[in-house]
Amino acid sequence: MVPVITIDGPSGSGKGTVARRLAVRLGFGLLDSGALYRLTALASQNAGLAPQTPEVVDMARRLDCRFDEQGKVFLNEENVSRELRTETIGAVASQIAARPEVRDALLQRQRDFARPPGLVADGRDMGTVVFPEAPAKIFLDASAEVRADRRYKQLIENGFDANFTALVEEIRQRDERDRNRSVAPLRPADDALVVDSSDLSVDEVEATLWRYAQDRLADQG
Ligand code: C5P
Repeated sequence: MVPVITIDGPSGSGKGTVARRLAVRLGFGLLDSGALYRLTALASQNAGLAPQTPEVVDMARRLDCRFDEQGKVFLNEENVSRELRTETIGAVASQIAARPEVRDALLQRQRDFARPPGLVADGRDMGTVVFPEAPAKIFLDASAEVRADRRYKQLIENGFDANFTALVEEIRQRDERDRNRSVAPLRPADDALVVDSSDLSVDEVEATLWRYAQDRLADQG
């Protein structure tokens, strides 16, 4: 069995950064599952499709996308890494992600990322639905204020315009939709380690997750 470390949590909890760090440290592959929902959102938007239309499911099934070693994302061989990160695409992704048929269409594609020597999988339902047998499961949380603040800094650093008040509201709406949807809602797996990163630096979160992952992988043999 390929060892999988799942990291779930709401947006701005810092899971993307630590997932990447752990993957590099372990020499494991990385699955940014949110990017697949964002890619479906972007492809649908480019095709002029509204989030609730049946064609969006086909779009998810037929996505022609690729992730490179540096974390760049390509859609139909075009580098869309930047476009993918906007709050608008995040919001459409979360509407699309509430549809069970879309989640189904992306399920096998996500599982195919589990290849030797191992995988770090980042998302909302990695430990509960996509990799329920994973030996190491983490749920990374943080207060809404801290998450909005981190997201704001991330957007500004990447050269996007951002309005803090609007961002807090967008994050609140997106979280509510992700936590309350009927299929694969955002929640910790029963056997997950829950970490609140509100008062921790990235290095501290990484150290905590690293120790836990090492223990769990050693137990698995
Ligand atoms: O993690 P990220 O912000 O890129 O995810 C965008 C949206 O995709 C989330 O708000 C969520 O609705 C959806 N998503 C999901 N399941 C995952 C990953 C992301 O529903 N495993």
